[in-house]
Amino acid sequence: MDARYEPLFQPWKIGNVEIKNRIVMLPMEGTNMIQWEAKTGFVRNIGAFYKDRKNNNIGLFIPGLIPLVSIVGEKWIYEHPEVFEAVRPIVKEIHESGAKIFFQLSAGSGRSMILPQLLKPFVRKGLVKNLSSRLIMSKWWWSAPDDDEPNVWDPDVRMDLFTSEMISRFVYAFGQTAKLCKDAGVDGVEIHAVHEGYLLDQFAMPYTNHRSDCYGGSLENRLRFACEIVKEIKKVCGEDYPVSLRYSVCSMTRGFNEGAVPGEEFTEVGRSMEESEKAIRILEEAGYDMFDCDNGTYDAWYWAHPPVYAPLNLNLPYVEHIRKFTSKPVVCAGRMQPQEAAASIGAGKIDAMGIGRQLLCDPEYVTKIIEDRMDEIRPCIACHGACLPFNGMNGKGTDIDPMHPDMGRCVLNPWTNNEKKYSLKPAKHPKKIAIIGGGIGGMETAIQASLRGHEVDLYEKSDRLGGAFIAASAMSFKEKDKQLLKWYEKTLEQTDTRIHLNTEISDPKSLDADVIVIAVGAKARTLPIKGAERAVTAIDFLNSSQETKDNVIVIGGGLTGCEIAYELALKGKKPLIVEATENIIGARGICMANSSMLKELLRYHKVPVYVSSTVESIEEDTVTLNTPEGTKVLPADTVILSVGYSPDRSFTENKDPKKKVRNKNRIYHVGDCDQVGSLKTVIRQAYETVQKISY
Ligand SMILES: Cc1cc2nc3c(=O)[nH]c(=O)nc-3n(C[C@H](O)[C@H](O)[C@H](O)COP(=O)(O)O)c2cc1C
Repeated sequence: MDARYEPLFQPWKIGNVEIKNRIVMLPMEGTNMIQWEAKTGFVRNIGAFYKDRKNNNIGLFIPGLIPLVSIVGEKWIYEHPEVFEAVRPIVKEIHESGAKIFFQLSAGSGRSMILPQLLKPFVRKGLVKNLSSRLIMSKWWWSAPDDDEPNVWDPDVRMDLFTSEMISRFVYAFGQTAKLCKDAGVDGVEIHAVHEGYLLDQFAMPYTNHRSDCYGGSLENRLRFACEIVKEIKKVCGEDYPVSLRYSVCSMTRGFNEGAVPGEEFTEVGRSMEESEKAIRILEEAGYDMFDCDNGTYDAWYWAHPPVYAPLNLNLPYVEHIRKFTSKPVVCAGRMQPQEAAASIGAGKIDAMGIGRQLLCDPEYVTKIIEDRMDEIRPCIACHGACLPFNGMNGKGTDIDPMHPDMGRCVLNPWTNNEKKYSLKPAKHPKKIAIIGGGIGGMETAIQASLRGHEVDLYEKSDRLGGAFIAASAMSFKEKDKQLLKWYEKTLEQTDTRIHLNTEISDPKSLDADVIVIAVGAKARTLPIKGAERAVTAIDFLNSSQETKDNVIVIGGGLTGCEIAYELALKGKKPLIVEATENIIGARGICMANSSMLKELLRYHKVPVYVSSTVESIEEDTVTLNTPEGTKVLPADTVILSVGYSPDRSFTENKDPKKKVRNKNRIYHVGDCDQVGSLKTVIRQAYETVQKISY
């Protein structure tokens, strides 16, 4: 192992519990040992997930949060001790591997509660304040420190008051549930959360707590609920049973649904660093043994769920600072990188590195660090496309349900949390497979097919593998996407795939193969506007040197258009976005953490956005827009068209996609050439196609 990583592999202690190394697998919903919410209580089929990870050198596992009370039907987990029986064998296996495990127990979400889409029609009708929702969801999930507080996802939805009687009941429930954890062999518990704007955090922060009872007002009062919880657990489970707290050092919040971006000067409405320095002392004194830290609230969600636009290790300076105000160990989370984490741990500035999504993406992440196989790590690209795909719908709720099956999965590794569906067995009758197109779809198909024992030829017409993803990864903040391309090349190299670059195939049937997979991607769309020939498509722009003069107009405010505008702003240009619909970045499946950060960055960099606007014509140095305020003529040195893609049907015999001839299943289509989708759909299709071919 590279000596720089050594500090990551020293033992440490939380209370009396020794952890073998400094790597903590962070809690992620979808990796819950007990998934309790919808039913009377059941253990998710999670064994395979932990099997893949337990022998891969993780020191401490913290599975995703376990709500103490069910969302539906008001059932308390401590009244159902039978659900803990099923976790015992997994806990035992984790212990046998030398790792430790804490369960994260949650007080709930308060105003951050995701409003399921299926309830929206009832709520919108406004019959009685959220009556229909309340009939389905228990009051525990519809209550917040202040009466009438706006829900994060839809400010028209208002919360009920979390009464002091409810607090007492919760405190009692925490003690009883922690006892069940202890009895099941779980090494400690983590309280969720004075963190990210969840219920306990709303109690703790001034902008979400205006109570006049002993749970509001002074900092001590605002932290009283969190302090009572740890005291109760220690009373029931004994002083030496470790209790961690999920903790946001600073809230990074400017107001309801308004977050600050890195480097911005702003007025904090949540927990400032000054207050945090005092808060952590109060919490330590109450009994907490560890702080599992980052920053943010749901109003500034991207600090806790950092997307691709967030710097690597973004929370580290804040966590290092707060460590000076407590004698207890601190963990730092948020796009942590092993080199920086090791340096900080080595210098005694933090105690452990928290890793979340990277472990969904590559279960062998830590093992590969130890074995000096860094270039074999499949890098998490912070897309949230399958682990947390909740679109914010621009303040109109979310586009999917909280029980969405994709939570805790991974775009790049469909196997994660879907181990049964994507089982990897050798092919019964290995075949000769020719793949046309060396983009992500083609490369993933080649890897999966080779791993199952097929003989694979991969044909790419250009001199490089990567396809449209080369352009998608071109922006300066996409270092992990660039690493992903390298990972694909490296992984392909390790298979027996024969790669044919600079090889254009005109007639697939001329190839000597049992099966042909077409993965030729999509073509950029253009618009029938006057002067469109003066514009450059997003993909051509990204594949070019990207040199422009100052005034750049980006037509299309989807994800790519907005990313290009942000990149241009970073380069000191003056981009402007024109979007035909009411909102930018509206597509399904884009996590609110990603879209809200990009929107805040565009705000911070003062990028003008014209929504509900269209381009009438593109002239020599100007563009004429139709906006709700009338016609505008704006200066334009470069015009970039980012209005989506259509499937490349070069190899579809019948141009009508519905009548596609598949030649008795010898020809398969993978990815955008079939139907334009996302990285998630392309990669899943590659897996599924290889499964079809193999069994
Ligand atoms: C799918 C998903 C679910 C999460 N669920 C929880 C949770 O249950 N409790 C919690 O404290 N944090 C939760 N988080 C936040 C993570 O613990 C972690 O702090 C975050 O992903 C940033 O770390 P990373 O950049 O290493 O992924 C979740 C994150 C993801 C991606």
